[in-house]
Amino acid sequence: MAVIAQKCPHIDVHIVDINEARIAAWNSENLDELPVFEPGLAGVVAEARGRNLRFSTNVDAGIREADIIFISVNTPTKTYGVGAGKAADLKFVELCARRIAEQAEGETIIVEKSTLPVRTAESIKSILDHASSDKATFQVLSNPEFLAEGTAIEDLYEPDRVLVGGEMTVGGKAAIQKLVEIYANWVPRERIITTNLWSSELSKLTANAFLAQRISSINSISALCEATGADVDEVGHAIGLDSRIGPKFLKSSVGFGGSCFQKDILNLVYLSQHFGLPEVAEYWEQVVKMNEYQKGRFTKRIVKALYNTVSGKRIAVFGFAFKKDTNDTRESAAIRVCRDLLEEQALLNVYDPKVPESLVHAEISGNSGEKHPGVTVSDDAYAAAEGAHAIAILTEWDEFKALDWNRIYDAMLKPASVFDGRNLLDHEALREIGFEVYATGKG
Ligand code: UDX
Repeated sequence: MAVIAQKCPHIDVHIVDINEARIAAWNSENLDELPVFEPGLAGVVAEARGRNLRFSTNVDAGIREADIIFISVNTPTKTYGVGAGKAADLKFVELCARRIAEQAEGETIIVEKSTLPVRTAESIKSILDHASSDKATFQVLSNPEFLAEGTAIEDLYEPDRVLVGGEMTVGGKAAIQKLVEIYANWVPRERIITTNLWSSELSKLTANAFLAQRISSINSISALCEATGADVDEVGHAIGLDSRIGPKFLKSSVGFGGSCFQKDILNLVYLSQHFGLPEVAEYWEQVVKMNEYQKGRFTKRIVKALYNTVSGKRIAVFGFAFKKDTNDTRESAAIRVCRDLLEEQALLNVYDPKVPESLVHAEISGNSGEKHPGVTVSDDAYAAAEGAHAIAILTEWDEFKALDWNRIYDAMLKPASVFDGRNLLDHEALREIGFEVYATGKG
């Protein structure tokens, strides 16, 4: 929304949320206090805020004044009842739809920006049509978001495509056109594609499923590489040169994380089951299973290399975010790896350039709210590595490459090991210093 405001000074963008603390943070004078860390975002907010970008808790007024409303609430995996562990929880979407139905006036376009299961638009439309007064009429569009964290602003400035789905009626087509015109302020027309509602909703789930599948595929090969002496980076490079495969998203890792991949695949699995397609469901579920296997395998390799026990041993964890250039830890592979290591009674010292200490503790201990006694968090990498037997690289932060690895080596117990879950570092250079190096997908 900030980018829309920046690129379209003639459009008034009003962001409303019931969470007062979060809105206050978005309004903060100090741009370091914005709730989301994302390269370039602070500049965008600074430019548009106070001009045509507003943040407030005035939800009802926001609804009444709007011609177009983007529903952008979260749709986590359901944790209770029917579909628990797989289906998307649409509670927040429904609450939004009901509030909109109550307050909206005139012709209003509702845009599903949250990632939703196929045919959710139908439910939204039904709530709007039944619960609203005569003051308002609605069109529902689907406009999934394909940006990735860490590169969000670039992705929004130059998207591969913008997708707008709507009903193929006269009113539906007019609504689609309105939204297309907003994006056309900066996105070339040929990159803005329009489809029917269901194709649009399903395309988002499918895109994420395909991306995650590539990672699980290369991660499955990484296990085979470790067993055979092949090198997963060489294999990835060799296959990526085939133009039909392409070079991106072939980086083997300790496992994919983030708020989308697992949730969206499980949602796809649930939908497939729901529509009576168990073979399809099983096929996609395997992508998530392979990811769990990869995360578990990483810890097993550490334990095996450290003479089959890490009990009482200090392990420095470098990186906790689910990828570099973000402070987001949702579904980060680091959470599972840390828990597994603690289960083995290791003592962990975590360092991440952007993730605050409280969040590390909260993620590791789940919702129990208690700090695990085996975890400390350091403000810098050198402190985290002090006196450690091993270092586990879990996020590919650039700054880890620039560290003084001689200094780190001197401060560690010997033999000093590095387990590079991201194949980030120069392994030969580390071996010359004296480290034992274990790299993902390298025998
Ligand atoms: C993803 C999609 O890329 C984006 O289009 C969608 O809108 C939201 O979900 P995001 O979760 O922000 O974006 O990050 P992404 O860059 O896709 O990475 C997801 C995870 O996969 C990260 O943990 C990353 O480290 C991992 N990954 C990515 C790999 O392990 N190997 C790769 O080659 C690429």
